[in-house]
Amino acid sequence: MSHSETKAKCLKVMNESGRVGNNDAAKQDGLNFYKYMFGHHPDLRVYFKGAENFSPTDVQNSDRFAKQGICIRQNLMLAIRILIDTYDDSETFKAYARETVNRHIKFKMDRTLWAKFFTLFVNNLKEHTTVDEETEKAFQEIGKAFSDECIKHTVALNLPN
Ligand code: HEM
Repeated sequence: MSHSETKAKCLKVMNESGRVGNNDAAKQDGLNFYKYMFGHHPDLRVYFKGAENFSPTDVQNSDRFAKQGICIRQNLMLAIRILIDTYDDSETFKAYARETVNRHIKFKMDRTLWAKFFTLFVNNLKEHTTVDEETEKAFQEIGKAFSDECIKHTVALNLPN
């Protein structure tokens, strides 16, 4: 698959369940990701200070995730779309991966999480729309290129984790 075909496959699914529009349906897509993460990977809640004990229902109903958090949730979906969209523009893609790492330094994340993220993300999408085998491979391919650059950058920055 060419880079542009990989990108197109991912964007098709993003347009179904990873939307960035300024409307309730798109906002719910972002919210769904956090509900999935908090429900299926509760160990990751430790990074979300103040929400360490949240259930998916708490995520749906909390001010942080349902109101004040709207920007953050939308930003995550937007960040993923930017990665997908720049996959055929390698320099921008890699620079944006490094920028994402920079923005997360303060959370002191374990660097192995960068390699796990896209799997988690696709598994969330699968709960809301159809993701065929080829499309899943496309997400994994982008996720691998992303995490390779992220991990290289965490090492270059000499981050402890
Ligand atoms: C914000 C953790 C992966 C993009 C945050 C926040 C945490 C966090 C704790 C602050 C939000 C809050 O406390 O309410 C994590 C963890 C990840 C992960 C544990 C991996 C498992 C990613 C990835 C991307 C991303 C892969 C991009 C594709 C963002 C964005 C924000 C954010 C855009 C909004 C704040 C900002 O722009 O600095 N993340 N993150 N995150 N994350 Fe992540």
